[in-house]
Amino acid sequence: MCGIVGAIARCNVVPILLEGLKRLEYRGYDSAGVAVLNASGLERVRSTGRVAELEKLTQAQGLSGNIGIAHTRWATHGAPEERNAHPHVSGGVSVVHNGIIENHEAMRARLRAKGYVFVSDTDTEVIAHLVNSNLQAGVTLFEAVRKSVVELVGAYAIAVVSESDHDHLVVARHGAPLQLGVGDGENFAASDTSALIQVTQKVIYLEDGDVAEITLGGVTIVDAKGDTVERAVHVSQLSAAAVELGNYQHYMQKEIFEQPIAVANTLEMVTSAQSISPQLFGAAAGEVFRDIDSVLILACGTSYHAGMVARYWIEGFAGIACNVEIASEYRYRESVPNPRALVITISQSGETADTLAALQHAKELGHRYSLSVCNVPESALIRASDLRFLTRAGPEIGVASTKAFTTQLAALALLTMVLAKMRGRLSTEREAGLLKALRHLPIALQSVLHVEPQIRMWADKFAQRHHALFLGRGIHYPIAMEGALKLKEISYIHAEAYAAGELKHGPLALVDKYMPVVAIAPQDALIEKLKSNLQEVRARGGELYVMADQDTKLTSSDGVHVIRMPDHAGLLSPILHTVPLQLLAYHVALERGNDVDKPRNLAKSVTVE
Ligand code: F6R
Repeated sequence: MCGIVGAIARCNVVPILLEGLKRLEYRGYDSAGVAVLNASGLERVRSTGRVAELEKLTQAQGLSGNIGIAHTRWATHGAPEERNAHPHVSGGVSVVHNGIIENHEAMRARLRAKGYVFVSDTDTEVIAHLVNSNLQAGVTLFEAVRKSVVELVGAYAIAVVSESDHDHLVVARHGAPLQLGVGDGENFAASDTSALIQVTQKVIYLEDGDVAEITLGGVTIVDAKGDTVERAVHVSQLSAAAVELGNYQHYMQKEIFEQPIAVANTLEMVTSAQSISPQLFGAAAGEVFRDIDSVLILACGTSYHAGMVARYWIEGFAGIACNVEIASEYRYRESVPNPRALVITISQSGETADTLAALQHAKELGHRYSLSVCNVPESALIRASDLRFLTRAGPEIGVASTKAFTTQLAALALLTMVLAKMRGRLSTEREAGLLKALRHLPIALQSVLHVEPQIRMWADKFAQRHHALFLGRGIHYPIAMEGALKLKEISYIHAEAYAAGELKHGPLALVDKYMPVVAIAPQDALIEKLKSNLQEVRARGGELYVMADQDTKLTSSDGVHVIRMPDHAGLLSPILHTVPLQLLAYHVALERGNDVDKPRNLAKSVTVE
C-alpha cells in the first residue's frame, strides 16, 4: 500500500526521503514522488518506475531542500500514471496521502465551482486544493490543514508543505497509520516505523483525528477535539538489520528460512515453563476466558487461514464453539451478536482496514471481549483490543505472508491449550506433552526446510502450468487454501484449494493430465479417505504432488511425486506442512521470473477497504 515520508532538517532532506521510500518499497507501489521547498519555491519529481528511478531523476535535476514530503503510491483512484502520482500540488501547496477520501466527488465539484482545475484522477488532489483554498483566508498552514480535515470523509494519513511557509511540515491521520520521528534539531513523519529508523528510533504514534505541526525544534499535536495533546515518545525496538536482506536473494526467502527462529521467539516465554497460564494473553485474560462461551475469529487472507486452522483446534481440543469470518464480510453482514463470545482478530500488520473495522463493528454490536494476535506492537489493532498476543516474527517485508502465518499458528495453538486447560480438558500429562511438542517445533521447522531441493524439482514442472489444485482434509484443508493463495499471489498461476472430500462434488471435472494436484497427506484419522481421493485424481490422469508423513506408506510412482515430511508433529502438523507449500510458491515464481517480494497488483498492509 501507499507509503509516506516527510522530513524537516538543516541538511538536504532528499536523501532521507528517498531512503525512507526505499524502506517502504516492500509495501507494494506503482509510482513514487517527492516534493521539497527550496530557494526556488516548491519543486517536485515523480516517476512511475521504482524508487531507484526516482532517485536518478532527483539527482539529474539536482533536487535539494531542507523540508519535503515523499510518497509511494498504490493506485486506487486513477491509473498508475505520472499525473496521478503523489505529491499533488495546488498553487504552492503540496500533499501526499494514504487512504481513500470517500466524499471526493462532492468536494471535487465544490472546488471546481471555485475555479480549481483538476489534473489527476485521484481523490488526493481534492485535499491539495482544499488546503490551498483554506490558506487563502490568511491562516497558518496548520490551521488550513485542520480546517480541511474536518471536511474529509474516509480514511487518510496526509503530509503537507506549502511554499508560503518553509518552517512547518503539517501531518494528519484518521484511519490510516502515521507516526512522527523525533530527531535532534530535525524531525520526521512516516506511515511506517521502518522508514524512520534510518534517522531516529524515537517514535510518536499519532491517534485518529490528530493533526501535527512539525518544525526543526519539535512537534505540536492537536487531537480531534481541538485540544493540544502530548503523545508518548516510544523507542522503537525495530533494528535496521531486521529489515535488511542479508545474504538472501529475496525477503520472502529470508522470511521462510527465519521461521524456526520466529516461532522460537514467539513461544519463548512458554517453552521454558512447566505449564501455561491465561496471563500470556494479558492480565485480565483469566477472567475473560472463564466467562466466554464461544469464539469468533475475524481476519483477512493468510491471517484468515490461520483462523480456520484455529477453529479445528479450539472446537476439537478446548470444546468451545468457534466461528471464523472474513473480516470484510463480517463488517457488512447482519449477524447475531453474542456478548459472551471472545472476538479474536488475527493480523500480521495490525493495520488491515477491514480487520480493524470488523473489530469496531463487533464492539458496536455489543461484543464485550476482544483479543488480537498480531505481529506489530503499537499497531492500531493492538491498541483497539483488550487482550493481545504479540507474535514475535520480526518485520515481514515480502508481500506474501510466511513467517507471520506460522507464528500466528503457534500463538493460536498456545491459546487452544490455555482454553482447554481452563475447561478441564487438558490433563497435566497432555499439557507436558504439548509443551514438549512446542519446544521441539523450531527444530521440526528447521528439518522441513531441508525438503527445498525436492520442491525445486516440483517447481520446474509447475512453472509450465496454468492451473493447480490443492487438496487437504480436516485441519489441513486451510493449509491447502494457504498453499493455493501463496502460489497464485506470487506465481500468477490460477490455484484452487478444496477439502479433498469435495472433489467429486464438482472440481474433479477439471482434472486431466495438465492439472497438477498438490495433496497434504499427514498420518491422521482421515488418511485412508484422502488416499481414495488421490486415486480418483490419478484415475483421471491428474499428476499428484504429495507431502506425506512417514507412516502413510505413500510412495512415488508414475505420475505420483511424494515428498516425505521429516517429522510428524501431531497437533502442530499444519504448521510444518505449510513450509513446503511456501517454498513451492517461491520457486515457481522464481522460475517464472516474477518479482517475488512485490507481486503485481498486491500490497503489504491493506490499509484501505
Ligand atoms: C497473503 C497476504 C495477505 C494478508 C492479508 C491480511 O500472503 O499476505 O492475504 O494475510 O492482507 O493482512 P494482515 O495479516 O496484515 O491483516
